[in-house]
Amino acid sequence: MLHRNKIIAAVSTVVLLTATSAFAGESPSEIKQRIGLGDPVAGKDKAALCQGCHGEDGNSASATFPKLSGQWSDYIQKQVREFQNGARYNATMTDMALSVDNFQDLFDIAAYFASQKTMGGTLIENEAEQKLYLEGQKLYMEGNERTGAFRCIKCHGEYGKGQPLNNNLFPVLGGQHKDYLIKQLTDFKTEERENDRSGMMLRITTRLTDHDIEALATYLSREPVSPAAPASAPAATTVSKN
Ligand code: HEC
Ligand code: HEC
Repeated sequence: MLHRNKIIAAVSTVVLLTATSAFAGESPSEIKQRIGLGDPVAGKDKAALCQGCHGEDGNSASATFPKLSGQWSDYIQKQVREFQNGARYNATMTDMALSVDNFQDLFDIAAYFASQKTMGGTLIENEAEQKLYLEGQKLYMEGNERTGAFRCIKCHGEYGKGQPLNNNLFPVLGGQHKDYLIKQLTDFKTEERENDRSGMMLRITTRLTDHDIEALATYLSREPVSPAAPASAPAATTVSKN
């Protein structure tokens, strides 16, 4: 199992470098749905300030800054508006959000990041991570009856890619930075972040230990390598040829 995953992991490096996502979510109609009403072309220039931290196409280099590429436009707008009105606070990002003072600019900037290829994860680094990945995957898919932790997949969809239809309430999580995911889950749990509608994420994270959070973040930030990967993934096809 581990050996097989290593092969798949090695092959998926190639897949990553050749830049084709193994995941659904990149069809023109799906991208259009993510973009919403804004103009991604106008948004590209307007996003210059954001790109300094979040990366040119929304694939930030540092885990301090979340990836925005392929994120739902509506979710991006909601977060920026809430940094503006104080419902969510971060010293750096609150200042940045306040610099966007025009509705149309926010629509367009959000549309630009939403129009980019969905964020992708990195490879599992070692055996300890492999173990955490599998634990996180199980918790993500099944929840934990003993602690009452709810199944994440119910809202966030397979590998946190969101659900295809009008599911702009639930952010894309799969492929996000590990340390950013850990920070957000911890911030929900400690009520540092409270802008989730009806406290959904607060209720969920109070059932999670720090270890659970690390396992979930490992699963969501690493390229899918085993049962979660769809049968049609290019990685699997390539492996069977070897
Ligand atoms: C100086 C660095 C910096 C710049 C420039 C910046 N941001 Fe951010 N942004 C951050 C940080 C840091 C966070 C994470 C806050 C936290 O940890 O909760 C963040 C978070 C966000 C989030 C939340 C994402 C999520 O997954 O919840 C959005 C959306 C966002 N930024 C949009 C923007 C937009 C749009 C711009 C340009 C107008 C911008 N940012 C400019 C630093 C920056
Ligand atoms: C009942 C639905 C629901 C379930 C179940 C759920 N979430 Fe969420 N989650 C949400 C919503 C809604 C948001 C967006 C909050 C907002 O609007 O700011 C969110 C936001 C998040 C974020 C913040 C993303 C970002 O970019 O900042 C993370 C991380 C997250 N969820 C992880 C999880 C994990 C891990 C689980 C399982 C333990 C889970 N969620 C279960 C509804 C849910």
